[in-house]
Amino acid sequence: MNICVVGTGYVGLVTGSVFSDLGNEVICVDNNAEKIAMLERGEMPIYEPGLEEMVKRNREDHRLFFTTDLTYAVERSDVVFICVGTPPTETGDPDMRAIQEVARGIARALNRYKVIVNKSTVPVGTGDMVREIIETNRVRNVDFDVVSNPEFLREGSAIKDTLEPDRIVIGAPNHVVAMKILELYAPLERPMIITDVASAEMIKYASNAFLATKISFANTIANICDQVGADVAQVVKGMGLDSRIGPAFLNPGLGYGGSCFPKDTAALVRTAEKVGVDFKILRAVMDVNAEQPIRFLDRLRAALDGSFDGKTIGILGLAFKPNTDDMRDAKSVEIIARLLAENAEVKAYDPIAMDNARRIFPQICYGKNAYDVAQDADALVIVTEWNEFKLLDMERIKSSMRRPILFDGRNIYDPIRMRRLGFEYQCVGRTR
Ligand code: UGA
Repeated sequence: MNICVVGTGYVGLVTGSVFSDLGNEVICVDNNAEKIAMLERGEMPIYEPGLEEMVKRNREDHRLFFTTDLTYAVERSDVVFICVGTPPTETGDPDMRAIQEVARGIARALNRYKVIVNKSTVPVGTGDMVREIIETNRVRNVDFDVVSNPEFLREGSAIKDTLEPDRIVIGAPNHVVAMKILELYAPLERPMIITDVASAEMIKYASNAFLATKISFANTIANICDQVGADVAQVVKGMGLDSRIGPAFLNPGLGYGGSCFPKDTAALVRTAEKVGVDFKILRAVMDVNAEQPIRFLDRLRAALDGSFDGKTIGILGLAFKPNTDDMRDAKSVEIIARLLAENAEVKAYDPIAMDNARRIFPQICYGKNAYDVAQDADALVIVTEWNEFKLLDMERIKSSMRRPILFDGRNIYDPIRMRRLGFEYQCVGRTR
């Protein structure tokens, strides 16, 4: 099948690469000429394990192409995937302008029957909106259908998630159209849900909102554990073994960040509001998430005798989670901003997100590694649980610090061991 993928962000680039790897001819389009030029040189605009090799292989085999020319790409395709960004606006509603613009472009280029697939995370009703835009703007009287096929990949394991998804959701106006998209995914041999467009759109939001709920729930349990002397690691393990609950997404910490959960929870609250439903649970989930880093910093401030003024704080981990260089809505951003506002000196290190971090915080110091950041620090804070922080020489870290205050925002160390080593150690939900 000839496929066009519009948008070369995480979703578009990974989707395009995987479909080409499955033997389809794929043209990826982006209006960002710089990004397309990078991709043509074989450079990846994002860090994603395995992506570069997959792109290289399929370009060499002439199955994967990059262009800025939407008309050219659409004209040659049977299926067009819309994978452009829907960033949040101040109201919590996603900004739909890129989708609308792409829909108008597709309408102008429509030269024969095509299936237009929405893969971007979009509010319920977007399928209808895209259909209307194409209907109104098409220049030739050519037929088309609009399908919703939400994406569930995670940054950092995007290729694996795309090749081995838990489920594939196809929301289509009828069975014949659904089958066309199903055919594309058939080689993956994964469970499929064939449904209507609105239900597919809702599945995506409901899933992300539920995962965010699990995290905020675990964070609240952890905050209680801190006070009552329970160990949250044992508590969530005990909960997760109940197959009705499951162990995933119960890791407490500084809260969820990234480009999806914060945006999608806000958008679902807005969708609910518009139809007269007050999504109280989800509003509480968002509140808990906003409070979690504040609570953590309150404890750190208290450990530093009530003030960050003039103190040197070492930050380990800047990306919103490990295995990505993505800093969008990263907890590190909130934490560093607050520390700077309270006159702390900040030194930071991340294995791969430092270039992105420098754009946000050009004024702070960046270390060569974790040891560099610990040197002469009054406190060290783990913000992202990169593997390389798990097996550091903690004796060396401790002896190089001005004060051995270790705040582990992701629970990667054993509290007993850290205290035995002489750290003033605090974490989330295993503190007493
Ligand atoms: C998330 C979903 O997991 C994907 O299924 C979905 O496709 C994607 O959003 C999207 O909508 O595009 P992603 O944002 O890449 O994927 O990252 P996650 O691995 O889900 O982590 C999100 C945040 O939750 C991170 O900040 C992570 O540190 C935090 N988290 C996750 C916890 O604090 N505790 C956990 O137990 C799990």
